[in-house]
Amino acid sequence: MSNFATPETRFLIGATGSIAVTRLPEYLGALRTAFGGSYTVLMTHTATNFLSPHAVGLSAERVIAREAPEDWPTDKPSRLAADHDIVLVLPATANVLSAAAAGAAPNRLTTVLLATERPVLFFPHMGTAMWRNPAVRRNVAQLREDGRIVVDPVEHADRDVVTGVVATHPALREPDGVVTAVRPALAAS
Ligand SMILES: Cc1cc2nc3c(=O)[nH]c(=O)nc-3n(C[C@H](O)[C@H](O)[C@H](O)COP(=O)(O)O)c2cc1C
Repeated sequence: MSNFATPETRFLIGATGSIAVTRLPEYLGALRTAFGGSYTVLMTHTATNFLSPHAVGLSAERVIAREAPEDWPTDKPSRLAADHDIVLVLPATANVLSAAAAGAAPNRLTTVLLATERPVLFFPHMGTAMWRNPAVRRNVAQLREDGRIVVDPVEHADRDVVTGVVATHPALREPDGVVTAVRPALAAS
């Protein structure tokens, strides 16, 4: 276990609507093995289309997956921001990069991203053309200028199920790569 995280380190994982979110339980396991701590997973509505919050609940202390007013007393954004030590947006869509770079707060996760004063790391996963798009490049640069950490994706080969063609695209790092990226942020926090 790392010296940098305490057993009480409270992780907030913002899970967004990338296909890569289907692997989230694996990442939660790797983070817990490396750092201990407790894990709240805050899923966007789109993320819940890819992965059931109930399945995520098997790997996390808490899962928040709704925007309902009855959740406000416990899950209002300012409280979620205050109650966690570090935020990982994993995986991060082009959409959440855009909202965060603009300071927009259209949902609970993006509101927490505005409200937190803790370290925030984004782990993007998207197609090659999207990642190269000037708008995405601008958003990544803006987030870095604002002090957020955007962890560059790695090239990953996937086979298209219809055409059978294998193509690479910028992908969320493997779990050990995510652990490696988180360690210095924890040390500095
Ligand atoms: C099958 C499918 C896969 C997707 N995968 C990605 C992805 O890997 N990265 C990405 O940026 N957007 C992806 N999208 C688009 C996002 O789901 C869409 O932008 C959504 O509005 C994101 O919402 P969120 O950021 O609030 O979760 C995908 C959409 C579909 C239908």
